[in-house]
Amino acid sequence: MSAASAQPGEHGAPVVDLRGRPLRDLRLSVIDQCNFRCTYCMPRDTFGAGYPFLPASARLSFDQMETLARAFASLGVDKIRITGGEPLLRRGVEHLIERLARIPTWDGRPMEIALTTNGVLLKDKARALRDAGLTRVTVSLDALDDAVFRRMTDTDTPVARVLEGIAVAGAVGLAPVKVNTVIERGVNDSQILPLVRHFKGTGVALRFIEYMDVGGAAGWGMSRVVTASEVRDRVASMYRLVAVDAADAVRPGSTSVNYRHEDDGSEVGFIASVSQPFCGDCTRARVSSDGQLYTCLFATQGMDLRPWLSDGASPARLAEAVRTHWQSRGDNYSERRGRRGAHGDKRQYPTIRMSLVGG
Ligand code: GTP
Ligand code: 5AD
Ligand code: SF4
Ligand code: SF4
Repeated sequence: MSAASAQPGEHGAPVVDLRGRPLRDLRLSVIDQCNFRCTYCMPRDTFGAGYPFLPASARLSFDQMETLARAFASLGVDKIRITGGEPLLRRGVEHLIERLARIPTWDGRPMEIALTTNGVLLKDKARALRDAGLTRVTVSLDALDDAVFRRMTDTDTPVARVLEGIAVAGAVGLAPVKVNTVIERGVNDSQILPLVRHFKGTGVALRFIEYMDVGGAAGWGMSRVVTASEVRDRVASMYRLVAVDAADAVRPGSTSVNYRHEDDGSEVGFIASVSQPFCGDCTRARVSSDGQLYTCLFATQGMDLRPWLSDGASPARLAEAVRTHWQSRGDNYSERRGRRGAHGDKRQYPTIRMSLVGG
């Protein structure tokens, strides 16, 4: 049977889970450390000097990551997102990208390779990343005001440095550059309109994300969440936005609902992971830098892929193990959290920390 006529779940075609969701996105974390200490992700009082990050010896090698990516590609993955912690802290990450960019999708298309970064090292690395075959970057940026940025990231990095990174990434063609902004009530909601004003007309797509109760977000509470609809209303009070037809989206299962400025076309998106969960078409698998597979951002436990990545292990067996695991997937954490009722709701059980799987 040719790849094009193969049915989902059959050999060589996208595998689907219990709810019929195909496996399409691999989010590969290359390091669990970060040079920021964002309060909603790695608060310093938890992630201080003595925190037991994964030792370098526990990290998968680039050889192992390539083997892994090939297995996922054979199961239907057509987009790989490199994450961290902060992925640009992993030495030589461009060499990994070079290898991943050569992997074709199961039906022979080029693999899309994206990367999520805090932008600190982007100015210096953008060109090498582009040359290695990276398709595009997403930069996390929560404020334009230095004092707010410093409070949120708990570093002395000036906003200008991240903005330079964004500019260089766009200039070398890592486009469309996306900017992800997590909004926390009372902390950086003052930054919504300044950020929109700043990126309007630049071609950078700005996306606002609801503050989630992920592992690591110690101070989370529903009162801190500014819903996507509230953020959108605030933006719409100053700017004329028109909805981008979801049918025009290049890929199904997008996390964001997107709008365009009526007069210049640049995009503003809203990721309503808390108030309007999108588990129904969640096609994302996450692998931590030590080779654990998580089929949900809010998983409590992963599946250890390392036995299939040791010397002499069979790549076909690895693909088979992942296929079987995905076929039994029923994850829908955000939907279930939503049903329990949002107000004052705390996480009922400990989930993995966000910095292990990079969002
Ligand atoms: P694009 O390829 O640019 O569309 O990226 P993406 O939206 O798939 O990934 P990105 O890393 O930009 O995701 C933005 C943010 O949305 C993440 O940092 C998370 O906060 C949130 N997010 C992404 N995927 C999921 C998911 O599967 N579940 C939940 N609950 N939140 C998610
Ligand atoms: N809520 C929402 N998004 C988060 N991220 C990390 N922690 C949280 C949280 N508590 C996401 C952000 C950031 C990416 C690296 O991880 O989008 O840009
Ligand atoms: Fe680092 Fe990103 Fe987490 Fe901030 S959100 S601490 S930049 S991994
Ligand atoms: Fe996917 Fe889990 Fe997020 Fe739902 S909560 S969208 S299943 S990662």
